[in-house]
Amino acid sequence: MFNGPFGGVEIYKKRREKLVSKLTRQASDSSIAILASKLEQERNHDVHHYYRQDSSLYYLTGHPEPETVLVINPKSKTKFILFVREKDPLRELWDGFRYGIDGAEKYFGVDKVYPVKEFKAVVTELLKGVDTLFYHLNEDVHFDSKILNMLEEAKNLSGRSGRGLAQIVDINPIIGEMRLFKTKEEIEFLRKACDISAAGHVAAMKFLKPNVYEYQVQAELEAEFKRQGSERLGYNSIVASGANATVLHYITNRDQCKDGDMLLIDAGAEYNFLTGDITRVTPVGGGFSKPQRRFYEAVLKVQKSCIKMVKPGVRLLDIHNHAIEGLTHEMLELGLLKGNVKQLILKREFFKYYPHGTGHWLGMDVHDTGLYTIDGESRKLEPGMCFTVEPGLYVPIKDKNAPKEYRGFGVRIEDNVHVTPKGCDVLTSNAPKEVEEVELYANTGQ
Ligand code: GLY
Ligand code: MN
Ligand code: MN
Repeated sequence: MFNGPFGGVEIYKKRREKLVSKLTRQASDSSIAILASKLEQERNHDVHHYYRQDSSLYYLTGHPEPETVLVINPKSKTKFILFVREKDPLRELWDGFRYGIDGAEKYFGVDKVYPVKEFKAVVTELLKGVDTLFYHLNEDVHFDSKILNMLEEAKNLSGRSGRGLAQIVDINPIIGEMRLFKTKEEIEFLRKACDISAAGHVAAMKFLKPNVYEYQVQAELEAEFKRQGSERLGYNSIVASGANATVLHYITNRDQCKDGDMLLIDAGAEYNFLTGDITRVTPVGGGFSKPQRRFYEAVLKVQKSCIKMVKPGVRLLDIHNHAIEGLTHEMLELGLLKGNVKQLILKREFFKYYPHGTGHWLGMDVHDTGLYTIDGESRKLEPGMCFTVEPGLYVPIKDKNAPKEYRGFGVRIEDNVHVTPKGCDVLTSNAPKEVEEVELYANTGQ
C-alpha cells in the first residue's frame, strides 16, 4: 500500500509542470510558490483525528501525510522541493507509517526532499531576492506568520536594497482553475466515485422500511460505499425523513423513518480524493402517496430539463434561471404561490420554497474550486468542467399559506454532470430517480 501516489507518480508530475507554466506566465520575475498542509495533526486531548490531506497539496503531490510542504522554485534545477516528516519508529508504532525522507525521494518524483523541521532555514535562503511569493494566506495563522517572518528575514539577509517585501499572490485561484478542468484520468476517478455513490443510494433505498432510524439507513449507505472501494465520504451524509428534509444541512440523522413519509438522502463517496454528490428521495413505505408523487415529479421535471441544457457555452446562471422559472411554474401548479411567473420571479417569491443555488463545481472538494464569474459575468461552461444539478422544493411544516398536503415536504434531486464537447455526460445515472424505479427499490424493504 505504501508505494507512492495513487494512480502513479506521472499524474502528479504533469500537474506540477502545468502549474509551473501558469506561474511563470503570471510572474516573469523571480518567484517561488509554497503550498502547505496542516502542520500538525489535529488532536483533541488524547484523541487522534483522521487526517485527510489538503486537496490542492494532494493534487500536486499525492503525498498523504500532515506536516508536508511543497515548494516550487520555477527557475531552479531543483524545481520541486518537498518537506516531510522524518521517519520515527516510536511515533510510527503509535500513529502508523510515514514515508520519511527516503520514501518521499523514492516515490514522489520531486527534485529534493528535506525534513520539515528544516523548512524555515532552507526556504528563507531561497526567498532572498524573490519578488513574488505564490501562497495562500490565512490557511493557518501560525504558518502564515512564519512565512511573513521568513520574507522579512530574507529581505534583511539580502542587504540594503531599498526594496519592499516580496508581493504575495494567492495561489489558490491558480490551482483552482486547474482543478476545475478535469483530465481523462480525473473523470474516470470521479466516475468511479459517482458509481459508488449511486450504489450506496440504491442500498439505502432497498434497506429503507418503516420505523428504521435515519442513522441506520446511513449505516447501510456508508457501508456500501466502503464495500465498493471508497475510503471515505465526500461530506457528511444527510439522511432526512419527513420534515427534516426541509432543513437543508440536516446531518443529525437521529429520527425514526415513519411509514407514509419520504426520506431525502444527500450523500457522496470519495474515490481517490474525488467525490460524488447525489440526492435522492424515497418513500418510506415503498410507494409515493398522490401528493408526494405530484410534488416529486414537479422537481424531477425541472431537474431533467436543467440537465438537458448542459453544453459548452451555456452559463451556470442560465441553468439556475431556468430552474427558478420551472420551479416557480410548478409552485403555481401546486398552489404554493399565486400570481404570474414573471412577477413572482421579479419579487423573488420563489425563494421561500427554493432558497439555494442549482449547482456548484464538483471535484476533489464537494464544493470544488474554480471561478464562477469572469469579469463580473457568469462564466460559460467548457468541456472538462464537472458540476451538480440540484433543484429542490421545501415547504416548512408550519407554513399555513401552503396547501396542507404539501407541508413538511422537502424534495431535492441531485445529479453530477461532466461537460463534453457536444453536451454532457451524467455521471450519476446509476442512481434511480424515475418514480417507478424508486418505488421498485423501495419495495424491496421489509
Ligand atoms: N451535499 C452538499 C451539496 O449538495 O451542496
Ligand atoms: Mn451539491
Ligand atoms: Mn448534495
